[in-house]
Amino acid sequence: MEKSLKTSDLKGFLSGEIVIPPDKSISHRSLIIGAIVSNQTGKKINIKNLSKGADCLNTLEILKNIGVKIVKLSDRELELDAKDAFMSPNKALDCGNSGTTVRLLSGLFSSIEGFSCVFIGDDSLKKRPMARIIKPLSLMGAEISSNDNKLPLKIQGRKLNSITYISPIASAQVKSAILLAGLFAQGVTKVVEPFLSRNHTEIMLEYLGAKIKTGKDEQGFWTSIEKSEFVLKDIEIAGDISSAAFFMVAAAIVPNSKVLIKNVGINPTRTGILDVFKQAEINFKILNERLISGEKVADIEVCYSKNIKPFKINGEIIPRLIDEIPVLAVLASVAQGKSIISDASDLRNKESDRIKAIVEGLRAFKIDIVEKQDGFIINGKSEINSSVTVETHLDHRLAMSYYILSLINKKETVLKGFDCVNTSFPEFLELMDNLKQF
Ligand code: S3P
Repeated sequence: MEKSLKTSDLKGFLSGEIVIPPDKSISHRSLIIGAIVSNQTGKKINIKNLSKGADCLNTLEILKNIGVKIVKLSDRELELDAKDAFMSPNKALDCGNSGTTVRLLSGLFSSIEGFSCVFIGDDSLKKRPMARIIKPLSLMGAEISSNDNKLPLKIQGRKLNSITYISPIASAQVKSAILLAGLFAQGVTKVVEPFLSRNHTEIMLEYLGAKIKTGKDEQGFWTSIEKSEFVLKDIEIAGDISSAAFFMVAAAIVPNSKVLIKNVGINPTRTGILDVFKQAEINFKILNERLISGEKVADIEVCYSKNIKPFKINGEIIPRLIDEIPVLAVLASVAQGKSIISDASDLRNKESDRIKAIVEGLRAFKIDIVEKQDGFIINGKSEINSSVTVETHLDHRLAMSYYILSLINKKETVLKGFDCVNTSFPEFLELMDNLKQF
């Protein structure tokens, strides 16, 4: 049963500090790459600060199904032993809502000789395109059958060849699938992308000793990989800037707010939102910069900003803020003028068709928004004052974005299927409640 959440405007303001929970992308990679390193070194690997989101738990469950032993050490810490793992599972592997799980693991499993499995997923994942990984992996010699390039995917692992693949899209999932396959292929595998997408796979592989190189030439941003020996090290996961984004926008738009968000990953391939905050003239500070397992982190302080300027996002910045576009659409809804989001057609291939869903959702709040094939144009307004029932389409980022807008809606907001926030951020409401001051 889908649960709705009824909420009304925050009569007070947001104040205080929170520690942002672990990054979803890095958590997936810590489990997958952690299992590879444990298998190759024959030793256990320790993972600290792992996400409790349902997506990452799906990856964890799949690893258990192929023989990885997991020992929980404390709340978010576990030890992973994959010495005898990578055995074909005896049931279908359920990726739930998680595109990262199916795309990254397809790359890895395709390269393991004799391994076979079937990936399934929920109604949203079943609709998402898989040709983007099937095509390059097949060029490497992978044996993948699918339902017209959609789930279920059937993988028969085998020895792969290395390739140089020029990707038409900047996608970290595509890049990572190829790199994980390339780790076990003969020779050097190279992926080139038009803009730099998130590079957590590259950073983690390098941190653990893999032979990985990156650079930029006239064809684009390239990464190369070959068979490697690993160095066993603990992996600690930085906080998720995509989760922090909801609190950052909330602090910026709720009058009199001031919030300190601690332990946020600020890898430059993820910080497009900070560039937008500068354009929008939002009052924020980056404090206490440091490194965690090769990833940059910092604390971010955001204050209420009265005159939010409209902004334009397009081109190279898109992959650096792709998951923040729903909440940036909320920011645009209260900016003083016209914001334009373009070059973002891949939003239609996310957990929902996020362009269509955002247009429909913001219209329910009586926001002036125009749909484009590759984005939208929003004319912000100074007051939100509409009784709204809004569909989340069971898309976690839409649910949390509309919640942020509801904080300044003078009338009641009903968020249908709000529980889907558990996909990435089960702690969302609790952290929000901690900051509310009346
Ligand atoms: C992710 C990459 C992005 C992002 C997704 C997570 C990852 O997808 O939207 O939420 O962890 O690699 P694409 O690779 O499809 O752009």
